[in-house]
Amino acid sequence: MTAAQKIIIDTDPGQDDAVAILLALASHELDIVGITAVAGNVPLALTEKNTRKICELAGRRDVPVYAGAVRPMVNELVTAEHVHGKTGLDGPDLPEPTMPLQEQHAVDFIIQTLMGHPPGDITLCTLGPLTNIALALVRQPEIAPRIKQIVMMGGGFFEGGNITPAAEFNIYVDPHAADVVFRSQVPIVVMPLDVTHKALTSASRIAAIRELGSPVGIATAEMLEFFERFDEEKYGSDGGPLHDPCVIAYLLKPELFRGRRCNVSVETASELTLGMTVVDWWQVTDRPANALVMRDIDDEGFFKLLTERLARL
Ligand code: BDR
Ligand code: CA
Repeated sequence: MTAAQKIIIDTDPGQDDAVAILLALASHELDIVGITAVAGNVPLALTEKNTRKICELAGRRDVPVYAGAVRPMVNELVTAEHVHGKTGLDGPDLPEPTMPLQEQHAVDFIIQTLMGHPPGDITLCTLGPLTNIALALVRQPEIAPRIKQIVMMGGGFFEGGNITPAAEFNIYVDPHAADVVFRSQVPIVVMPLDVTHKALTSASRIAAIRELGSPVGIATAEMLEFFERFDEEKYGSDGGPLHDPCVIAYLLKPELFRGRRCNVSVETASELTLGMTVVDWWQVTDRPANALVMRDIDDEGFFKLLTERLARL
């Protein structure tokens, strides 16, 4: 058996973040060294609490959870209660967590872990604004060559944006952090809206998860039912896009996704297109490729994987 891949999940739960965390916790191929929370969908006090709620739901009080940045590097925090509800995790009625929050700051944890492991050991899975990762890179640039890869949910190109016409939420909230990350020379895999808008829940997909009958299956179905209502109304679709779990699914089954290596640059100046990920898909510039940008997903395979794995919890 090959050794489990060591990962740090950086997250702002968020129902889709929660499902991504559950998918990772259910997968023996992944060794979650720690989960770091960042301000995003809701303020940090809620994202760190929601992270602990999810670990407890999965019976994994042993996973250390760290709190990171309370706000983006330069801009004011923009949140998304209109999508995720007031708590960020509206839907199921989960108990207040009792497992402790680690005392160490998330940025210190990320640096210490990368410096303490051999180069190429740790993958960063980013499911929210990139503030914690950029702060770590700025504070200790020696970590960059030690990161195996960053697999991120963020950006959108062909599909446009979801928080403005040009920008996807995670990049828009902290475009300066995203800029630092895309310039870091760390290998990056991007799951943009172009992919996640093809990973749509549906009544039957949620029913299959509910029918697992376990506390995890039922809570996940309740989260997804709450989460999808916003996008169903917005896009007129049957179901909502399950963004963040695509990151974890890529680590488990990369063959579910298709994309190409190209340059991604982040707009940090223009008021109109702030946070836009400008993807040189057709290689019309000589900017070097800095990311593997995904565009397609086998959505049937993705939901099969997700449901099978959640059944293990
Ligand atoms: C991203 O923004 C958040 O609302 C979701 O959790 C996801 O990470 C999608 O744009
Ligand atoms: Ca998220």
